[in-house]
Amino acid sequence: MEVRARAPGKIILAGEHAVVHGSAAVAAAIDLYTYVSLRFPTPEDNDEELKLHLKDMGLEFSWPVGKIKETMPELGGVPGSIPSYSLEAMKAIASLVEEQSIPEDNTGLISGISAFLWLYTSIHGNKPAKAVVTSELPLGSGLGSSAAFCVALSAALLSLSSDSVKLDFNHQGWQVLGKSELELVNKWAFEGEKIIHGKPSGIDNTVSTYGNMIKFKSGELTHIKTNMPVKMLITNTKVGRNTKSLVAGVSKRALKHPIAMVSIFNAVDSISNELSEIIQSPISDDLVITEKEEKIAELMEMNQGLLQSMGVSHTSIETVIRTTSKYKLSTKLTGAGGGGCVLTLLPTLLSGTVVDKVVAELVSCGFHCLVAGIGGRG
Ligand code: MEV
Repeated sequence: MEVRARAPGKIILAGEHAVVHGSAAVAAAIDLYTYVSLRFPTPEDNDEELKLHLKDMGLEFSWPVGKIKETMPELGGVPGSIPSYSLEAMKAIASLVEEQSIPEDNTGLISGISAFLWLYTSIHGNKPAKAVVTSELPLGSGLGSSAAFCVALSAALLSLSSDSVKLDFNHQGWQVLGKSELELVNKWAFEGEKIIHGKPSGIDNTVSTYGNMIKFKSGELTHIKTNMPVKMLITNTKVGRNTKSLVAGVSKRALKHPIAMVSIFNAVDSISNELSEIIQSPISDDLVITEKEEKIAELMEMNQGLLQSMGVSHTSIETVIRTTSKYKLSTKLTGAGGGGCVLTLLPTLLSGTVVDKVVAELVSCGFHCLVAGIGGRG
């Protein structure tokens, strides 16, 4: 038997980092996906291993199921529940990961494998299987690759308990989960994200689960309905960074300068609220779109300034800002910052020639550019 699930990446239009401290943020799914397939051996295969194949990276890991049972005797696979963390369980996971040969200096990979083991064993016990992961998302660059992995894995695991899952087909042939199933997937994926990122807000797994565009504040999700075409150029600076340490850095700054940082978080909250209102308000003609785009551009610039004050910008991000501002375009980082991906608003009336020129200049700086569809399916 084989099950296959996919989940999209995301961009954050406003509010990253501040969202961890209770401010509102606005995020949208993009039409780049991570795919997870789970294949279960038949008794004739005589395969007693749990395997994880990260196809794009050319890496494969495996654990005899007997070893998993011995190391994690408490985990039994209780559908619908995730055992709460214990130091003991985390130590057991760490010992299973340590046994694998993992390329050095790869904390992101180690935490991803740990999240896989935790989610798989918690939900499905210690049954043998082969998980194959492929992704259209660049890894660790702010486009939500880890959340998409956790969501796709959780959805694949959920679809195994077919009795409780009501599935629908969308036009592309993918089965769509119902409301309560999505809630469960989101909850499980959040547990995986905690292993990977420490103290995430939950926005990445939520937008990857539900898709489209959302406003997110203190764990609460509001769907944003819009007919406004928001087109963004996504520039990948290719500068690697670690979300966990960037999030921890902002928290450290907030402890050091609580009054100033609370003012910054409040300003971001207002930016996200205004942005979501602009995007949702009705459009009567092209003039309205242009006015709205000008406002969105200004809000993005303000948000970027505040992100800089939080200490999460980077020289590569500043280079993108300098380049795009020559063309009067507005740019902000997206996700955790410190490198990674950057968003530039492409107004509706902007000519294709200008876009080509901007892209050529950014590519000559060593960056990679893409225009992804915004608001894809979760
Ligand atoms: C990362 O995509 C977004 C952050 O705000 C972290 C989080 O919300 O968990 C930086």
